[in-house]
Amino acid sequence: MQDVFACDRSPDGPRHVAIIMDGNGRWAARRGLPRLEGHRRGVEALRRTVRAAIELDIRFLTIYSFSSENWRRPAQEIGDLFGLLRIFVRRDLADLHARSVRVRFIGSRQGLPPDIAGLLGEAENVTGDNKGLTLVVAFNYGARQEILAAARAIAEAALRKKIEPGVLDEKSFEAFLETSDIPDPDLLIRTSGEQRLSNFLLWQSAYSELVFMPVLWPDFDRAALEEAINEFKGRDRRFGGLAAQAPSLKERA
Ligand code: IPE
Ligand code: IPE
Ligand code: MG
Repeated sequence: MQDVFACDRSPDGPRHVAIIMDGNGRWAARRGLPRLEGHRRGVEALRRTVRAAIELDIRFLTIYSFSSENWRRPAQEIGDLFGLLRIFVRRDLADLHARSVRVRFIGSRQGLPPDIAGLLGEAENVTGDNKGLTLVVAFNYGARQEILAAARAIAEAALRKKIEPGVLDEKSFEAFLETSDIPDPDLLIRTSGEQRLSNFLLWQSAYSELVFMPVLWPDFDRAALEEAINEFKGRDRRFGGLAAQAPSLKERA
């Protein structure tokens, strides 16, 4: 697998950065503004971050933009967040395509308004052959739901005798995850000071380096991303072994 993901980035930098973009509401509340304004400024931070990721030669950027549990928010806010996704895809798709970004969505498309499901498919089709940054947008995503869907598909395949349960291993299990063709995140950042994963990439982040930053997402920029990357570079990734330069789990597989 590693050949597919090989690149010329400096060997000690993260190949895949995942971000829990948190703190939009608090950013707005501190300014006496409606939460929507925080979300709007969050989209601007996302644009900055995508550009910075390209400049820093990151190959995969995964962003958490709407969780399975965010349905618990008021209908008005959910509508606002869907509206911003529509705007982001419609307005930014041409620019992302011009920058050779390959856009992918993970998460359930069930329960989404039909026009949104259509837009997501369109963005993936238009950019599918691009060779630059892969931008993975986790929308209506929950890691437990993802793992459960994989378990269900595997159980069904076993019933149809397509899979032998005894030979199922990490690699063949991963083939049932939506991220099967994406390497695990090396660096996982959460903004806003909260220190939890909130149902994000639970399987994939088993050996990710976690960096929690106080900055609220609308204030995030290239300098903040570089700060997180520097923190990452100072970490000693051992993957359960002893050597400082232990190979990643996937590379050893
Ligand atoms: C992150 O900001 C955006 C989403 C979760 C969609 P929040 O809306 O969670 O902002 P806070 O946590 O209330 O500040
Ligand atoms: C996680 O943030 C989800 C996204 C950033 C999309 P939340 O703000 O929803 O998480 P909790 O509720 O604080 O755990
Ligand atoms: Mg939050």
